[in-house]
Amino acid sequence: MSETFTTEASPDPATEGDTAATATRQTGAEGVDGGVGLTALLVAAARAIETHRHDSLAQDVHAEHFVRAAPACVDWPVRIGQVPEGDANPLWGRFARYFGLRTRVLDDFVLGAVHDGARQVVLLGAGLDTRAFRLDLPPHCVVFEIDRAGVLAFKQQVLNDLSAAPRTKRVPVPVDLRADWATALTSTGFDPAAPSVWLAEGLLFYLPSPTETHLVETVDRLTAGGSALAFEAKLEKDLLAYRDSAIYTATREQIGIDLLDLFDLGPRPDSAGHLTARGWSTSMHTPFDFARRHGRGPLPEPNDALEGNRWVFARKPGP
Ligand SMILES: C[S@@+](CC[C@H](N)C(=O)[O-])C[C@H]1O[C@@H](n2cnc3c(N)ncnc32)[C@H](O)[C@@H]1O
Repeated sequence: MSETFTTEASPDPATEGDTAATATRQTGAEGVDGGVGLTALLVAAARAIETHRHDSLAQDVHAEHFVRAAPACVDWPVRIGQVPEGDANPLWGRFARYFGLRTRVLDDFVLGAVHDGARQVVLLGAGLDTRAFRLDLPPHCVVFEIDRAGVLAFKQQVLNDLSAAPRTKRVPVPVDLRADWATALTSTGFDPAAPSVWLAEGLLFYLPSPTETHLVETVDRLTAGGSALAFEAKLEKDLLAYRDSAIYTATREQIGIDLLDLFDLGPRPDSAGHLTARGWSTSMHTPFDFARRHGRGPLPEPNDALEGNRWVFARKPGP
C-alpha cells in the first residue's frame, strides 16, 4: 500500500460534528482527495449509480452528494445514463454493479445480525458508508464508524450540509487501523460485553498482513458471544497477474486510481481460518453466488479481477 502519510491514533472520544475536522488539523491525515481515501469515493459513486438503476439492489440517496462535493471526482458519473457506453463500461458498469451487490449483501448481513440481538454495529474502514442513515436499525442500536480523520471529516461536512439525520446513534471514530484503534473505539462507548456486528467491507487488502491479523484478533477480543463479522478478502496469489484486466485497466485509465498500487501485495493471512481456530463459525462465498441469487450483478469473465474476491461471514457462538 502506498500510504503517503503517517498519523497517530486519536485516542480522544470521538463525537459527531467538529471532532473529525479537529483531528484532521491535528494529524494532517489524508482525506478523500487521493490514495486509499479516494477509493471511498469510488464506492460512493458506484452506490449512487446503483441507487438509480431500475433494478437497484441497494438505495443510498446520500452517495451522489459525496461524489459531487469532492473536487477529485467532479466529472465522475452518478447515473448509468451519464456513462456513454452504459453498462458496457467495465468501471461504471460491471465494477459499480459489484459494489452495489456487495452493499446489498452486507446490508442484509447487518440487519440479520441485529435481528439476532446485536446492538452495536462497527464499520471498519467505514469510508462514506451511510448505513446509520439508510438501514432500519432499532433506536437503541449504535453505529461506530472507524476511518482516518480526514475521510470522516469530509463525510461529516457533506452530511451536515445535507442536514442528514441518522436513524440511530452514530459515533465516528477517527483513528488509523494501524494504530491503537481498540482504545479509540472503547473510549467512545463501545461495550465489548454486548453483542456486536462488524463489517470490513473493501478494507483488508489495503492493510499490511500483520495489521489484518491484529485486526481480526482484536475483533475476537472485543466481541461477546452472539457477535458477527463479515469481511471481504482477495484470494489471488499474484494480484499483479490481473493488471490488464478490464476492471483494473478502466479504473486506472478513466479515474486515475491504480488499485494495484494501493493494495498490499504481500501474502495475505488466513483470517477465516484464524477465526475458525478461535471458535467462530465461518462461511465463504464468491460474489457470483449472490449475483446468481439476486439475478443481478457480475458473473465470471476471463482475466477477471474479481475472480479471487470472497465474502466471509463469521459468527461467534452465543453464550
Ligand atoms: C474502498 S473504501 C471502502 C469504504 C467503505 N467500507 C465502503 O465499502 O463504502 C476503503 C476505506 O478504508 C479506509 N482505510 C484504508 N486504510 C485504512 C487505515 N489504515 N485506517 C483506517 N481506515 C483505512 C479508507 O480510508 C477508505 O475509506
